[in-house]
Amino acid sequence: MQASDVFTLKNSNNVEVTFIARGGQITSIKVPNAKGEVADVVIGYETVEGALAGDAYFGALCGRYANRIVKGQFELNGESYQLDVNNGPNHLHGGVDGFNLRVWDVEEVNLPQFAQAYKLMLVSPDGDQNYPGELTTVVTYGLTNDNEFVIEYDAESTKDTIINLTSHAYFNLKGAGTGTIADHQLLINAEKFTPIDGEVGTVSGEIAPVKGTGMDFTASKKIGEALTADCPQVKLVDGIDHNFVINGYDGNLKLAARLEDAESGRAMEVYTDQPGVQIYTGSHFDSSEKGKLGAPIEKWAGVALETQIFPDSPNKEHFPNAVLKEGERYTHTCVYKFIQG
Ligand code: BGC
Repeated sequence: MQASDVFTLKNSNNVEVTFIARGGQITSIKVPNAKGEVADVVIGYETVEGALAGDAYFGALCGRYANRIVKGQFELNGESYQLDVNNGPNHLHGGVDGFNLRVWDVEEVNLPQFAQAYKLMLVSPDGDQNYPGELTTVVTYGLTNDNEFVIEYDAESTKDTIINLTSHAYFNLKGAGTGTIADHQLLINAEKFTPIDGEVGTVSGEIAPVKGTGMDFTASKKIGEALTADCPQVKLVDGIDHNFVINGYDGNLKLAARLEDAESGRAMEVYTDQPGVQIYTGSHFDSSEKGKLGAPIEKWAGVALETQIFPDSPNKEHFPNAVLKEGERYTHTCVYKFIQG
């Protein structure tokens, strides 16, 4: 398998998902609207070479621990572990050589529920990036004829370890390269979120109500309203870069969020069996890179909806369990369902 190997999933409605072996990186998702106009709804680059040279989190599988771990430190079974510190004082998305940079083994599989599906496999050796245990991860990318792009994660470790896998596509339902997501409508099925402590650089450990803050998306509203809200949490990260606590978590698939662009008539629902979803509006994009349609990748060019457990869970007892025990299985399902409005 080569980093640049390209794979495509197609269904009977002209939906098309393309990814590469490096990072399982989703490089495009083409979705028609009701008029049949097709747009590529994930931001990124025009070519595979561009994807390999550019922002390696775009559309990629992140692990072993997606999101942040404070100071890269955690304890497990009485032992202290020090992971890479690659994001200010913290560990982000598995470290400097995270799963997003690995070349995954990819194989097409026939599964009756999908129009087309692939399995992506990666064996991460014991001690990789200082995480304990040899971790074998199998991710299924499947596309249904109901326009659902399904990501199923499955992992096992030879020793007790910690894990939090996610997918990092940034969506723009109008089409990548056609402006920001400020006028997209967003609903998040979350009455609570985990506020950020500016000094720590990630969550404080508090679980707070969204009511009365810029984080209140319990009723659908324009993302732009939140981006410019007079809200200290928004100001801290120049947008939204927060983990939301999905209502009614019980390990079954639940609606996490609904994104809609009235102008193009495209919408997307996100379902997951995970307790959290990180919503990130791409505040660090600064137009210095050219993306799809030759347009600069500007601030707020897309929004990532990353299903996962909470940031820094290994250090927060009241957060969801991040431990994968030897002999047990980690599973996680995320569904991106495209709706032609
Ligand atoms: C995080 C952002 C980070 C980005 C890196 C997101 O998942 O929430 O804080 O800058 O990943 O691409």
